[in-house]
Amino acid sequence: MLAELGYAPTDHLREGDLILFNTCTIRSGASDKVHQHLANLRNLKKKRPGVLIGIAGCVAQEEGGRLLTDYPWLDIVVGTHNLHLLQAMVRDAEAGFRRSETDFLDNSQRLDLFPPIAGVNRASAFVTVMQGCDNYCAYCIVPYVRGREISRRFDDILQEVRELAGQGVQEIVLLGQNVNSYGLKGEGQPPFHELIRAVAEVAGINRIRFMTSHPKDMSDDLIACYADLPTLCGALHLPAQSGNNRILNAMNRGYSRERYLETVDKLKAARPGIKLTGDMIVGFPGESEAEFEETLSLMEAVNYFDLFSFVYSPRPGTRAAELADDLPKQVKLERLDRLQKLQLQHSRSHNEAYVGTVQQVLVEGLAKREGQVTGRIESGRIVNLAGGFDLIGKLVEVKIIEGYANSLLGELA
Ligand code: 5AD
Ligand code: SF4
Repeated sequence: MLAELGYAPTDHLREGDLILFNTCTIRSGASDKVHQHLANLRNLKKKRPGVLIGIAGCVAQEEGGRLLTDYPWLDIVVGTHNLHLLQAMVRDAEAGFRRSETDFLDNSQRLDLFPPIAGVNRASAFVTVMQGCDNYCAYCIVPYVRGREISRRFDDILQEVRELAGQGVQEIVLLGQNVNSYGLKGEGQPPFHELIRAVAEVAGINRIRFMTSHPKDMSDDLIACYADLPTLCGALHLPAQSGNNRILNAMNRGYSRERYLETVDKLKAARPGIKLTGDMIVGFPGESEAEFEETLSLMEAVNYFDLFSFVYSPRPGTRAAELADDLPKQVKLERLDRLQKLQLQHSRSHNEAYVGTVQQVLVEGLAKREGQVTGRIESGRIVNLAGGFDLIGKLVEVKIIEGYANSLLGELA
């Protein structure tokens, strides 16, 4: 969108003619960082009054027009449903008019306003299939800043996938805040498993992934795709958030520990060796030591490939924010540390098990280390290997020679 206005990217923030922050407010730390950045730009604007400064994404949505008052050097506040206005807002800012646009739109208006393809390289592309969240987990701000769930038209998605395949893209990552509730909200779209089956039919698509899934919407039909579709990667991000039923209930997650584990068993039966990843929150209000230990025992039962773990962070306007955030910081950090140490063991043993095997790697680009390229195996784990430009965009056989905590080292087989 900005390229159409004549802007090009720079590697140096302070050289930019337009500085646009795309922001996250899922935890207070992410949001605090944005405020720091905004505050830091005051002097730059003094030195170069022509520079335009904008904020997009969830912090913009949450805080809205008040940001223009708090930061008089800020020009653009564009909310999560208003990205289609960005070009006009930049033109206005160039002419000296500061604007904030954060109105939520009706789903009927949004159907034609899905953002253009987010992130594409020669190998892999993200395709948005739905947006928003209606689940209102007690701790989570997403439903308030992304608005209601909406599923994009089935035909629009498939057309985009076909175009990408035509450009040589081999891997499609279907994206949505609750990707597997695609089609469930009565907009007349088929269910998610039918979308996956249709994408799998597109010639040239050799890998399909999707994220993020909600455990409560992990239907048997969707699980069956893992048994039937070889191009559906044997990996799934399935956040549990906690292993204890009282906490899951207080979080309003809509499933029990037992049901989560039952889903996991079905997935492992449908696709032996499937790699599961997840998210966990420690220190939710009132979480006892015994309840936390059930999170650890759930981890043992699932044997996650990777786990993203967070200390509970109260978010304004959510239901959990009304509960006393009662655990001492030290207790929360100690729990996080124990959880992460356990996960490190699990991740390491998954990685070490790859050593000596031959894996298909879809090479995505040059690695940080000179003379190496970087790509992913089916499970999504990063592999670095010696090689150059000619490998980028290709699916190659690689022998794994070393397993680290977060990545693997390989060589062309
Ligand atoms: N505090 C801590 N972690 C949170 N997450 C979402 N909201 C909060 C919060 N208030 C985590 C969840 C979610 C991930 C993206 O962020 O684990 O899955
Ligand atoms: Fe947040 Fe829950 Fe919605 Fe995920 S499902 S975005 S955790 S409210």
